[in-house]
Amino acid sequence: MIRTLTYAALSGTLLFSANATAEDKTTQQYIDTLAELGYPAPEENELVHIPPTMEDLEDAKLHPELKRVIRRGHDLFTNTQQLRGENVFNNMNCSSCHLGEGRMPFSAPIWPAAVTLPGFRGKNAHVNNLEERIAGCFTYSMNGKPPEYGSDHMVALSAYHQWLAKGVPVYPQQPIYGRGFPAPERPEELSYARGEAAFQEKCSVCHGNDGGGLRVDGQTVFPATWGDMSNNWGAGIVRVFTAAGFIKNNMPLGQPNSLDDQEAWDIAYYMSSQERPQDPRYTGDVKETLEQTREPFHKHSMYGRTRETDGHVLGDHRNLGDKPFLKPDTVRPRTFE
Ligand code: HEC
Ligand code: HEC
Repeated sequence: MIRTLTYAALSGTLLFSANATAEDKTTQQYIDTLAELGYPAPEENELVHIPPTMEDLEDAKLHPELKRVIRRGHDLFTNTQQLRGENVFNNMNCSSCHLGEGRMPFSAPIWPAAVTLPGFRGKNAHVNNLEERIAGCFTYSMNGKPPEYGSDHMVALSAYHQWLAKGVPVYPQQPIYGRGFPAPERPEELSYARGEAAFQEKCSVCHGNDGGGLRVDGQTVFPATWGDMSNNWGAGIVRVFTAAGFIKNNMPLGQPNSLDDQEAWDIAYYMSSQERPQDPRYTGDVKETLEQTREPFHKHSMYGRTRETDGHVLGDHRNLGDKPFLKPDTVRPRTFE
Protein backbone atom coordinates (compact mmCIF):
# COMPACT_ATOMS: atom_id res chain seq x y z
CA MET A 1 0.00 0.00 0.00
CA ILE A 2 2.75 2.43 0.98
CA ARG A 3 4.53 1.45 -2.19
CA THR A 4 1.49 2.23 -4.31
CA LEU A 5 1.10 5.62 -2.72
CA THR A 6 4.75 6.47 -3.10
CA TYR A 7 4.68 5.38 -6.68
CA ALA A 8 1.76 7.70 -7.29
CA ALA A 9 3.72 10.44 -5.55
CA LEU A 10 6.69 9.84 -7.79
CA SER A 11 4.68 9.84 -10.98
CA GLY A 12 2.56 12.73 -9.80
CA THR A 13 5.04 15.04 -8.18
CA LEU A 14 8.33 14.40 -9.85
CA LEU A 15 7.30 13.22 -13.25
CA PHE A 16 3.99 14.81 -14.06
CA SER A 17 3.12 17.68 -11.79
CA ALA A 18 2.69 21.17 -13.09
CA ASN A 19 3.69 22.49 -9.66
CA ALA A 20 7.04 20.76 -9.30
CA THR A 21 9.68 23.46 -9.37
CA ALA A 22 13.21 22.96 -10.62
CA GLU A 23 14.42 22.86 -6.99
CA ASP A 24 12.01 20.02 -6.19
CA LYS A 25 13.64 17.92 -8.79
CA THR A 26 17.02 17.55 -7.21
CA THR A 27 18.82 14.44 -8.18
CA GLN A 28 19.05 13.30 -4.57
CA GLN A 29 15.31 13.53 -4.01
CA TYR A 30 14.75 11.67 -7.23
CA ILE A 31 17.09 8.87 -6.20
CA ASP A 32 15.55 8.73 -2.69
CA THR A 33 12.07 8.39 -4.11
CA LEU A 34 13.21 5.64 -6.45
CA ALA A 35 14.92 3.88 -3.52
CA GLU A 36 11.63 3.89 -1.60
CA LEU A 37 10.13 2.07 -4.57
CA GLY A 38 12.81 -0.61 -4.36
CA TYR A 39 15.04 0.57 -7.21
CA PRO A 40 18.82 0.39 -6.71
CA ALA A 41 20.83 3.56 -6.17
CA PRO A 42 23.04 4.63 -9.05
CA GLU A 43 26.60 3.32 -9.24
CA GLU A 44 29.19 5.98 -8.65
CA ASN A 45 30.03 6.51 -12.32
CA GLU A 46 26.47 6.34 -13.67
CA LEU A 47 24.80 9.20 -15.49
CA VAL A 48 21.57 10.24 -13.74
CA HIS A 49 19.25 12.36 -15.84
CA ILE A 50 15.81 13.61 -14.80
CA PRO A 51 13.94 14.08 -18.05
CA PRO A 52 11.97 17.32 -18.32
CA THR A 53 8.17 17.19 -18.22
CA MET A 54 5.61 18.55 -20.66
CA GLU A 55 5.03 21.37 -18.15
CA ASP A 56 8.73 22.25 -18.31
CA LEU A 57 8.29 22.49 -22.06
CA GLU A 58 5.88 25.39 -21.68
CA ASP A 59 8.59 27.44 -19.90
CA ALA A 60 11.46 26.36 -22.16
CA LYS A 61 13.18 28.78 -24.52
CA LEU A 62 12.23 27.03 -27.72
CA HIS A 63 10.38 28.22 -30.82
CA PRO A 64 6.59 27.91 -30.34
CA GLU A 65 6.35 25.78 -33.46
CA LEU A 66 8.96 23.36 -32.08
CA LYS A 67 6.98 23.15 -28.83
CA ARG A 68 3.88 22.31 -30.85
CA VAL A 69 5.72 19.51 -32.65
CA ILE A 70 7.14 18.10 -29.37
CA ARG A 71 3.60 18.12 -27.93
CA ARG A 72 2.45 16.24 -31.01
CA GLY A 73 5.22 13.66 -30.47
CA HIS A 74 4.13 13.23 -26.84
CA ASP A 75 0.55 12.77 -27.99
CA LEU A 76 1.58 10.10 -30.52
CA PHE A 77 3.73 8.34 -27.91
CA THR A 78 1.00 8.15 -25.26
CA ASN A 79 -1.95 7.60 -27.61
CA THR A 80 -0.40 5.62 -30.43
CA GLN A 81 -3.78 3.99 -31.03
CA GLN A 82 -4.65 7.05 -33.15
CA LEU A 83 -2.40 5.40 -35.78
CA ARG A 84 -4.36 2.13 -35.57
CA GLY A 85 -4.75 0.41 -38.93
CA GLU A 86 -2.09 2.62 -40.50
CA ASN A 87 1.04 2.10 -38.39
CA VAL A 88 -0.24 0.12 -35.39
CA PHE A 89 -2.04 -3.21 -35.64
CA ASN A 90 -2.30 -4.25 -31.97
CA ASN A 91 -3.63 -2.70 -28.75
CA MET A 92 -0.36 -1.10 -27.63
CA ASN A 93 0.62 2.49 -27.12
CA CYS A 94 4.33 3.25 -26.93
CA SER A 95 3.68 4.11 -23.28
CA SER A 96 2.26 0.62 -22.63
CA CYS A 97 5.85 -0.54 -22.08
CA HIS A 98 7.71 2.75 -21.65
CA LEU A 99 5.93 3.86 -18.47
CA GLY A 100 5.69 7.42 -17.21
CA GLU A 101 5.36 8.71 -20.79
CA GLY A 102 8.80 7.32 -21.64
CA ARG A 103 10.51 9.04 -18.70
CA MET A 104 10.48 6.35 -16.03
CA PRO A 105 13.87 4.81 -15.16
CA PHE A 106 13.96 0.98 -15.23
CA SER A 107 11.09 1.14 -17.72
CA ALA A 108 13.32 1.66 -20.76
CA PRO A 109 13.21 5.45 -20.69
CA ILE A 110 13.43 6.55 -24.31
CA TRP A 111 15.78 9.55 -24.08
CA PRO A 112 19.05 7.50 -24.11
CA ALA A 113 18.34 6.69 -27.77
CA ALA A 114 18.52 10.39 -28.62
CA VAL A 115 22.08 10.72 -27.25
CA THR A 116 23.56 7.32 -28.22
CA LEU A 117 22.35 7.11 -31.83
CA PRO A 118 23.40 6.91 -34.61
CA GLY A 119 24.97 3.73 -33.29
CA PHE A 120 25.56 0.08 -34.17
CA ARG A 121 22.77 -2.34 -33.19
CA GLY A 122 23.45 -6.05 -33.03
CA LYS A 123 19.79 -6.86 -33.70
CA ASN A 124 20.00 -5.71 -37.32
CA ALA A 125 23.81 -5.53 -37.54
CA HIS A 126 24.07 -2.03 -38.92
CA VAL A 127 24.25 1.58 -37.81
CA ASN A 128 20.78 2.88 -36.85
CA ASN A 129 19.62 6.43 -36.25
CA LEU A 130 16.84 7.52 -33.88
CA GLU A 131 14.14 7.21 -36.56
CA GLU A 132 15.17 3.64 -37.31
CA ARG A 133 15.12 2.78 -33.58
CA ILE A 134 11.56 4.14 -33.37
CA ALA A 135 10.72 2.22 -36.56
CA GLY A 136 11.91 -0.97 -34.84
CA CYS A 137 9.40 -0.60 -32.00
CA PHE A 138 6.62 0.06 -34.58
CA THR A 139 7.59 -3.05 -36.56
CA TYR A 140 7.79 -5.48 -33.66
CA SER A 141 6.31 -4.06 -30.45
CA MET A 142 3.32 -2.43 -32.20
CA ASN A 143 3.08 -5.30 -34.74
CA GLY A 144 2.94 -2.53 -37.30
CA LYS A 145 4.41 -0.49 -40.08
CA PRO A 146 6.59 2.49 -39.16
CA PRO A 147 5.60 5.94 -40.37
CA GLU A 148 7.78 7.00 -43.31
CA TYR A 149 11.23 8.28 -42.45
CA GLY A 150 11.07 12.08 -42.41
CA SER A 151 7.24 12.12 -42.15
CA ASP A 152 5.45 14.48 -39.76
CA HIS A 153 4.83 11.60 -37.35
CA MET A 154 8.50 10.55 -37.32
CA VAL A 155 9.76 14.10 -36.88
CA ALA A 156 7.29 14.70 -34.03
CA LEU A 157 8.21 11.45 -32.25
CA SER A 158 11.95 12.13 -32.65
CA ALA A 159 11.49 15.65 -31.32
CA TYR A 160 9.76 14.27 -28.21
CA HIS A 161 12.60 11.78 -27.60
CA GLN A 162 15.18 14.52 -28.00
CA TRP A 163 13.30 16.91 -25.71
CA LEU A 164 13.43 14.31 -22.93
CA ALA A 165 17.22 14.11 -23.40
CA LYS A 166 17.63 17.87 -22.94
CA GLY A 167 20.98 18.71 -21.36
CA VAL A 168 22.58 15.25 -21.68
CA PRO A 169 25.86 15.19 -23.61
CA VAL A 170 25.79 13.37 -26.92
CA TYR A 171 27.58 9.96 -26.85
CA PRO A 172 28.01 10.03 -23.06
CA GLN A 173 30.96 7.98 -21.82
CA GLN A 174 29.23 7.00 -18.56
CA PRO A 175 26.76 4.13 -18.28
CA ILE A 176 23.17 5.41 -18.03
CA TYR A 177 21.30 4.86 -14.74
CA GLY A 178 17.96 3.04 -15.14
CA ARG A 179 18.36 2.36 -18.86
CA GLY A 180 16.40 -0.51 -20.41
CA PHE A 181 14.60 -3.12 -18.31
CA PRO A 182 17.48 -4.53 -16.25
CA ALA A 183 16.76 -8.16 -15.39
CA PRO A 184 17.18 -9.61 -11.91
CA GLU A 185 19.60 -12.51 -11.66
CA ARG A 186 18.26 -15.61 -13.40
CA PRO A 187 17.30 -18.29 -10.90
CA GLU A 188 18.50 -21.82 -11.55
CA GLU A 189 15.13 -23.25 -12.53
CA LEU A 190 12.08 -21.63 -14.07
CA SER A 191 8.64 -23.08 -13.53
CA TYR A 192 5.77 -22.75 -16.01
CA ALA A 193 3.27 -23.97 -13.41
CA ARG A 194 4.40 -21.46 -10.77
CA GLY A 195 4.46 -18.70 -13.40
CA GLU A 196 0.93 -19.51 -14.49
CA ALA A 197 -0.38 -19.55 -10.91
CA ALA A 198 1.31 -16.22 -10.10
CA PHE A 199 0.06 -14.60 -13.33
CA GLN A 200 -3.50 -15.67 -12.60
CA GLU A 201 -3.23 -14.42 -9.04
CA LYS A 202 -1.46 -11.10 -9.55
CA CYS A 203 -1.84 -10.04 -13.17
CA SER A 204 -5.00 -11.44 -14.69
CA VAL A 205 -7.24 -8.96 -12.84
CA CYS A 206 -6.01 -6.37 -15.36
CA HIS A 207 -4.52 -8.35 -18.24
CA GLY A 208 -7.19 -11.09 -18.32
CA ASN A 209 -6.89 -14.86 -17.74
CA ASP A 210 -6.04 -15.26 -21.41
CA GLY A 211 -3.56 -12.33 -21.50
CA GLY A 212 -5.91 -10.45 -23.84
CA GLY A 213 -6.06 -7.25 -21.76
CA LEU A 214 -8.97 -4.83 -21.91
CA ARG A 215 -10.04 -2.40 -24.57
CA VAL A 216 -13.00 -0.03 -24.15
CA ASP A 217 -14.37 2.29 -26.85
CA GLY A 218 -11.29 1.99 -29.03
CA GLN A 219 -8.95 2.85 -26.12
CA THR A 220 -6.58 0.42 -24.48
CA VAL A 221 -7.19 0.23 -20.74
CA PHE A 222 -4.96 -2.80 -20.15
CA PRO A 223 -2.67 -3.96 -22.95
CA ALA A 224 -2.53 -7.60 -24.10
CA THR A 225 0.42 -9.56 -22.71
CA TRP A 226 0.13 -12.16 -25.49
CA GLY A 227 -2.19 -13.13 -28.34
CA ASP A 228 -3.20 -11.28 -31.51
CA MET A 229 -3.44 -7.85 -29.86
CA SER A 230 0.04 -8.00 -28.30
CA ASN A 231 3.52 -7.41 -29.70
CA ASN A 232 4.83 -9.90 -32.29
CA TRP A 233 7.59 -12.50 -31.90
CA GLY A 234 10.25 -10.04 -33.06
CA ALA A 235 9.77 -7.57 -30.18
CA GLY A 236 12.49 -7.06 -27.56
CA ILE A 237 10.17 -8.01 -24.71
CA VAL A 238 9.82 -11.61 -26.00
CA ARG A 239 13.33 -12.28 -24.67
CA VAL A 240 12.63 -13.94 -21.33
CA PHE A 241 15.24 -11.84 -19.49
CA THR A 242 13.77 -8.60 -20.88
CA ALA A 243 10.26 -9.67 -19.84
CA ALA A 244 11.58 -10.60 -16.38
CA GLY A 245 13.25 -7.18 -16.09
CA PHE A 246 10.12 -5.38 -17.24
CA ILE A 247 7.92 -7.29 -14.82
CA LYS A 248 10.21 -7.03 -11.79
CA ASN A 249 10.69 -3.28 -12.24
CA ASN A 250 7.19 -2.30 -13.29
CA MET A 251 4.44 -4.80 -12.51
CA PRO A 252 1.92 -5.22 -11.00
CA LEU A 253 1.21 -1.63 -12.02
CA GLY A 254 1.83 0.67 -9.05
CA GLN A 255 3.75 -1.98 -7.10
CA PRO A 256 7.19 -2.09 -8.72
CA ASN A 257 9.77 -4.47 -7.20
CA SER A 258 7.11 -6.25 -5.14
CA LEU A 259 7.72 -9.65 -6.78
CA ASP A 260 10.75 -11.68 -5.81
CA ASP A 261 13.25 -12.53 -8.56
CA GLN A 262 12.07 -16.13 -8.90
CA GLU A 263 8.44 -15.03 -9.28
CA ALA A 264 9.30 -12.38 -11.89
CA TRP A 265 11.26 -14.93 -13.93
CA ASP A 266 8.60 -17.65 -13.59
CA ILE A 267 5.90 -15.26 -14.79
CA ALA A 268 8.15 -14.08 -17.64
CA TYR A 269 8.75 -17.71 -18.66
CA TYR A 270 5.02 -18.47 -18.60
CA MET A 271 4.14 -15.28 -20.51
CA SER A 272 6.88 -15.96 -23.07
CA SER A 273 5.50 -19.46 -23.67
CA GLN A 274 2.22 -18.17 -25.13
CA GLU A 275 1.46 -17.39 -28.77
CA ARG A 276 1.61 -13.99 -30.46
CA PRO A 277 1.77 -12.72 -34.07
CA GLN A 278 4.54 -13.99 -36.32
CA ASP A 279 8.03 -12.40 -36.39
CA PRO A 280 8.28 -10.14 -39.48
CA ARG A 281 11.60 -11.85 -40.27
CA TYR A 282 9.73 -15.16 -40.82
CA THR A 283 10.94 -17.04 -43.87
CA GLY A 284 7.99 -19.43 -44.06
CA ASP A 285 9.63 -21.93 -41.72
CA VAL A 286 9.98 -21.42 -37.98
CA LYS A 287 13.15 -23.52 -37.58
CA GLU A 288 14.85 -21.72 -40.46
CA THR A 289 13.79 -18.32 -39.06
CA LEU A 290 15.12 -19.34 -35.66
CA GLU A 291 18.48 -20.30 -37.17
CA GLN A 292 18.73 -16.97 -39.01
CA THR A 293 17.75 -14.84 -36.02
CA ARG A 294 19.13 -16.87 -33.10
CA GLU A 295 22.21 -14.65 -32.82
CA PRO A 296 21.93 -12.21 -31.21
CA PHE A 297 18.18 -12.27 -30.71
CA HIS A 298 16.11 -15.44 -30.42
CA LYS A 299 18.55 -17.39 -28.28
CA HIS A 300 16.90 -15.59 -25.36
CA SER A 301 13.28 -16.16 -26.45
CA MET A 302 10.97 -19.18 -26.64
CA TYR A 303 10.47 -18.75 -30.41
CA GLY A 304 10.71 -22.05 -32.26
CA ARG A 305 10.90 -23.95 -28.95
CA THR A 306 8.58 -26.70 -27.87
CA ARG A 307 6.28 -25.74 -25.00
CA GLU A 308 6.84 -28.19 -22.17
CA THR A 309 3.19 -28.49 -21.18
CA ASP A 310 1.68 -29.61 -24.49
CA GLY A 311 4.39 -30.06 -27.11
CA HIS A 312 3.26 -27.00 -29.09
CA VAL A 313 6.06 -25.41 -31.17
CA LEU A 314 5.92 -21.68 -30.44
CA GLY A 315 5.81 -19.42 -33.50
CA ASP A 316 4.99 -22.30 -35.87
CA HIS A 317 2.12 -20.54 -37.66
CA ARG A 318 1.25 -17.91 -40.25
CA ASN A 319 -0.88 -15.76 -37.95
CA LEU A 320 -0.05 -12.08 -38.36
CA GLY A 321 -2.67 -10.79 -35.89
CA ASP A 322 -4.65 -7.88 -37.40
CA LYS A 323 -1.85 -6.96 -39.78
CA PRO A 324 -2.46 -7.64 -43.48
CA PHE A 325 1.24 -8.07 -44.35
CA LEU A 326 4.25 -9.86 -42.87
CA LYS A 327 7.14 -7.48 -43.27
CA PRO A 328 7.10 -3.70 -43.69
CA ASP A 329 9.54 -2.67 -46.44
CA THR A 330 11.53 -0.49 -44.01
CA VAL A 331 12.95 -3.71 -42.51
CA ARG A 332 15.86 -4.11 -44.89
CA PRO A 333 19.62 -4.37 -44.78
CA ARG A 334 21.74 -1.22 -45.11
CA THR A 335 25.16 -1.23 -46.72
CA PHE A 336 26.29 2.42 -46.74
CA GLU A 337 28.00 1.88 -50.07
C1 HEC B 1 5.73 -4.25 -26.10
C2 HEC B 1 6.59 -3.33 -25.40
C3 HEC B 1 7.07 -2.09 -26.16
C4 HEC B 1 6.32 -1.17 -26.83
C5 HEC B 1 4.83 -1.16 -27.01
C6 HEC B 1 7.25 -0.18 -27.34
N1 HEC B 1 8.51 -0.50 -26.97
FE1 HEC B 1 10.19 0.63 -27.27
N2 HEC B 1 11.32 -0.79 -26.35
C7 HEC B 1 10.85 -1.97 -25.85
C8 HEC B 1 11.98 -2.78 -25.43
C9 HEC B 1 11.90 -4.18 -24.82
C10 HEC B 1 13.13 -2.03 -25.68
C11 HEC B 1 14.58 -2.45 -25.41
C12 HEC B 1 14.96 -2.17 -24.02
C13 HEC B 1 16.31 -2.77 -23.71
O1 HEC B 1 17.27 -2.43 -24.40
O2 HEC B 1 16.38 -3.57 -22.79
C14 HEC B 1 12.68 -0.77 -26.26
C15 HEC B 1 13.54 0.26 -26.62
C16 HEC B 1 13.13 1.46 -27.15
C17 HEC B 1 14.00 2.59 -27.40
C18 HEC B 1 15.49 2.64 -27.10
C19 HEC B 1 15.76 3.08 -25.66
C20 HEC B 1 17.24 3.13 -25.37
O3 HEC B 1 17.62 2.92 -24.21
O4 HEC B 1 18.03 3.41 -26.27
C21 HEC B 1 13.22 3.57 -27.96
C22 HEC B 1 13.68 4.93 -28.42
C23 HEC B 1 11.87 3.06 -28.04
N3 HEC B 1 11.85 1.79 -27.52
C24 HEC B 1 10.81 3.76 -28.56
C25 HEC B 1 9.52 3.24 -28.68
C26 HEC B 1 8.45 3.90 -29.40
C27 HEC B 1 8.55 5.23 -30.09
C28 HEC B 1 7.36 3.09 -29.31
C29 HEC B 1 6.02 3.25 -29.95
C30 HEC B 1 6.02 3.41 -31.40
C31 HEC B 1 7.75 1.93 -28.50
N4 HEC B 1 9.07 2.05 -28.17
C32 HEC B 1 6.89 0.89 -28.14
C33 HEC B 1 9.53 -2.35 -25.71
C34 HEC B 1 8.45 -1.67 -26.25
C1 HEC C 1 -3.71 -2.74 -11.87
C2 HEC C 1 -3.67 -3.28 -13.20
C3 HEC C 1 -2.45 -4.09 -13.59
C4 HEC C 1 -1.93 -5.19 -12.96
C5 HEC C 1 -2.42 -5.86 -11.68
C6 HEC C 1 -0.82 -5.63 -13.77
N1 HEC C 1 -0.69 -4.82 -14.86
FE1 HEC C 1 0.66 -5.05 -16.37
N2 HEC C 1 0.04 -3.31 -17.18
C7 HEC C 1 -1.00 -2.52 -16.71
C8 HEC C 1 -1.10 -1.34 -17.54
C9 HEC C 1 -2.14 -0.23 -17.41
C10 HEC C 1 -0.05 -1.41 -18.48
C11 HEC C 1 0.32 -0.36 -19.52
C12 HEC C 1 1.00 0.80 -18.89
C13 HEC C 1 0.33 2.10 -19.15
O1 HEC C 1 -0.43 2.19 -20.13
O2 HEC C 1 0.54 3.01 -18.33
C14 HEC C 1 0.63 -2.68 -18.24
C15 HEC C 1 1.69 -3.15 -19.02
C16 HEC C 1 2.18 -4.44 -18.93
C17 HEC C 1 3.07 -5.05 -19.89
C18 HEC C 1 3.64 -4.41 -21.13
C19 HEC C 1 2.64 -4.33 -22.24
C20 HEC C 1 2.06 -5.68 -22.60
O3 HEC C 1 0.83 -5.82 -22.50
O4 HEC C 1 2.81 -6.62 -22.91
C21 HEC C 1 3.34 -6.31 -19.43
C22 HEC C 1 4.22 -7.34 -20.07
C23 HEC C 1 2.64 -6.47 -18.18
N3 HEC C 1 1.93 -5.32 -17.91
C24 HEC C 1 2.69 -7.60 -17.39
C25 HEC C 1 2.09 -7.69 -16.14
C26 HEC C 1 2.34 -8.78 -15.22
C27 HEC C 1 3.22 -9.97 -15.49
C28 HEC C 1 1.59 -8.51 -14.10
C29 HEC C 1 1.51 -9.32 -12.83
C30 HEC C 1 2.76 -9.50 -12.12
C31 HEC C 1 0.87 -7.28 -14.35
N4 HEC C 1 1.22 -6.81 -15.58
C32 HEC C 1 -0.04 -6.71 -13.47
C33 HEC C 1 -1.84 -2.83 -15.67
C34 HEC C 1 -1.65 -3.86 -14.79
